[in-house]
Parts: sequence; structure tokens; C-alpha cells
Amino acid sequence: MKCKFCRNKAVYAEERLCKEHFNKYFEKRIRKYFDSLRLKNLKLLIAVSGGKDSSAIAYSLNQIKDDYNLTLELLYLDLGIKDYSQSCKKTAMLLSETLGLKLNIIDVPKEYHKSIDDFDENYSCSACGTFKRYLINKFAFENNFDYVVTGHNLDDELFFVMNNLLNRNTEYLLRSGKLTETKKQLKLVGRLKPLYYLTEKESLIFCIVNKIPFTNIECPHGNNSTQLRMKKKLNEFFDSRAKKINFIKSINSIKKEYLEQNKELMNFCEECGYPTNDKVCRFCRLIK
Ligand code: AMP
Ligand code: FES
Ligand code: ZN
Ligand code: ZN
Repeated sequence: MKCKFCRNKAVYAEERLCKEHFNKYFEKRIRKYFDSLRLKNLKLLIAVSGGKDSSAIAYSLNQIKDDYNLTLELLYLDLGIKDYSQSCKKTAMLLSETLGLKLNIIDVPKEYHKSIDDFDENYSCSACGTFKRYLINKFAFENNFDYVVTGHNLDDELFFVMNNLLNRNTEYLLRSGKLTETKKQLKLVGRLKPLYYLTEKESLIFCIVNKIPFTNIECPHGNNSTQLRMKKKLNEFFDSRAKKINFIKSINSIKKEYLEQNKELMNFCEECGYPTNDKVCRFCRLIK
């Protein structure tokens, strides 16, 4: 198959693009994300997991950083998951070296005397989610970052929305979206998801054609398999990027109306002082 613009060999069949035009397509979407939200002159912390998505966004932001006056640093959380965490850490280190960006590492077992492997298998993934959200926010807040950047993509958002709808978790559903605002008074650093309108396949191709370091080893705590299975089914139903985007946009406009009518409640954890809707936050309860 040939590129629709220049007749070179296509690397991305869906849009019929060669390497050069695929890179332009990808970068254009990242720029559009920053332009539409008027994001510039920012200190950003990119949370890197070693996986393709966060590696792709780190690489892409590093390419456009001067145009938007972005100061970039990377953060990797070592959650003490046997072998897996070590291997991901190595990839994060290689990525940092390749891009010339500072890598911060939090060694969770060392600092908190708890690792994800300590939890019962049924809780490990949910504890891991809490650890990531909490520790990434805390690091970003204490080091004065304007936003955290994550590698969440269109397929992640679609899965998140569908899964929460199916489980009637409407509260979680309200937390999703392409950006969350920074609220310094609440000790909350906002999140940017520049891959929000790009698919998993697109970030994989981006990493491969640009030789960006990433690992595709799976976390041994199996819960991810539910996600993988559901994503496969969703890909059959939503068989184009446009359909996925339309669905997400519809959900977002319903959410917007709802949120405008209902202001959220928030207070601070009695133990650590970070925001929560409970007396003691979930992170502090898990650490105990
Ligand atoms: P996941 O929660 O594994 O779906 O990952 C979603 C995003 O969270 C990734 O794209 C990264 O930006 C971030 N992330 C996941 N795991 C880590 C980690 N161990 N350290 C830092 N950031 C992470
Ligand atoms: Fe968090 Fe697997 S339990 S990555
Ligand atoms: Zn081309
Ligand atoms: Zn707490």
C-alpha cells in the first residue's frame, strides 16, 4: 500500500500514510491538543510507565517543547512488582537518556515499606491505581509542576467510559476527560492527556517507526486481561477512530451539563493533608 500524499510505502494502513506523513499526522494532533486548550509556558511532569503510550507522548512533547515553551521532566514510579517494575524502570531510563530529559524515580517499597505485590491479588490493580494517582499528584505538587502528562489514549478513555457505565460507576465516569484542572488550593495538580484523540495502534506505530524505547511486557497482576478483552470487543464495534471520537464527545457533552449543575465536594485527609472525599484518604488507608 502506498501513502496517499507521496506514494512512498505506507506504515499506517488506516489512513494510508508513509512514515514521514504519519509523523506529521501524529504531531499535528498533539499540537491541536495544546492549541485548543491554549496550553503554553508550562512546567510539565510526564508520568512514564515504560509502555508505548507514555514513551510516545514524551518523545512527541520533546519535539514541540520549544514552540510551546514547555519545561519537561519524567517521573517513573517503581511499585515493587517483581521483575516487571525493574524492566519498566530500565526502559524509562533508556527513554530519559534518548530524549535528554531528567528522570525522577520514586522507589515505593523503599519509601513506603509497601509494594503492590504485598496486596491480595484481587486488590492489587485497584491499590496500584490509587498509588499511582496519589504519588504522581504528590510529587507534581511538591515540585511545582503546572500539570502532569499521562499516556492515556482514545482506547483507554473508551474503555474507561464503557466500563464505568456498565458498572454504574457514574462518579468515576465524571472524573474522566481530556484534561483536569490544577487546583493548588486543593493540592491537586491537573492532568493532560495529549493522546486523548489518538488510538493505541497509532502510538504503537509512532514508537516503532521512530525507534522510541518502550516495553510491551505485561504486568503479572492479571486484571489487565479484562481490559484487553474488552478493548478487543470495543475495537470490533467502534471500527474507526471517528466513531470512537464521536462517542466520547457525546458522553463529554452530557457530563458537562451535569457538572455545571452539581458542584463537587472535597475535604482534606486527616493523615496526610491531601484532598479526599473521606476523612482519611484511600492511599493512607492502604499504607496502613
Ligand atoms: P495505566 O494506568 O497503566 O493504564 O497507565 C496510564 C498512564 O499512567 C501511563 O500512560 C503513564 O502516563 C502513567 N503511568 C502508569 N504506570 C506508571 C508508573 N509506574 N510510573 C509513572 N507513570 C505511570
Ligand atoms: Fe498496577 Fe499491574 S497492578 S500495573
Ligand atoms: Zn507520504
Ligand atoms: Zn491521606
